[in-house]
Amino acid sequence: MSFVVAIDGPAGSGKGTVTKLVGDKLNLINIDTGATYRCVALETLNQHILLDEKEKIVSILDDIEIEFVNTDEGKKVFLNGNDVTTKIRSKEVSQIVAQVSSIIEVRLKMVDLQRRLAEGKNVIMEGRDIGTYVFPNADVKIYLDASAEERANRRFKQNQEAGIEMDYEEILKNIKMRDEIDKNKEMGALKQAEDAIYLDSTHLTIEQVVEKIIEIIKEKGFEG
Ligand code: DC
Repeated sequence: MSFVVAIDGPAGSGKGTVTKLVGDKLNLINIDTGATYRCVALETLNQHILLDEKEKIVSILDDIEIEFVNTDEGKKVFLNGNDVTTKIRSKEVSQIVAQVSSIIEVRLKMVDLQRRLAEGKNVIMEGRDIGTYVFPNADVKIYLDASAEERANRRFKQNQEAGIEMDYEEILKNIKMRDEIDKNKEMGALKQAEDAIYLDSTHLTIEQVVEKIIEIIKEKGFEG
């Protein structure tokens, strides 16, 4: 038996932080689907492939191995055996990941991986199309939103803490650009599932969002 919580929403809506905290509290395995697309984007850069060379991007998919590993220092992402946890958050990756994740072949391969990672487990999975496409029968579906300005603000602080240099205006521009691409994707577009609960976190603290989501999950009968 497995229990699936789907958390979808735009870049910087707080999905990452909230998903981790809820997962830890309720003993749900946390799967960050954006990280899988970021790995493909990083490998595209590593191999000096240009964004318009779609066929070349598709051709590297078979040589990509992505793993999520729990270590003493927290959860790490490995790409072909290398720890890329920090690298996949770089400005260069953030600039191309929306386009890379728009490629259908990339999506099919990553969705397959995401479903395998969740198989038979109790998971909380964050992304854009989890409730609509990856797990349309998820037990709980949340669409987490916030204004673009507030999201840029949060990403700015996150980057500062991680030692990544990027100014606020640049982040805001990047977020708006990614919203556009994410919402207009041919496949896996960012969209609230009909049966998802809409949660606007613009004026809520992380703790308040976490509390609300835990309440929703418990109402569905999952106690952790
Ligand atoms: O959540 P994030 O910012 O790490 O996501 C990185 C990119 O991947 C983002 O531009 C949207 C894309 N993505 C997607 O298309 N589908 C998902 N399920 C998760 C992320």
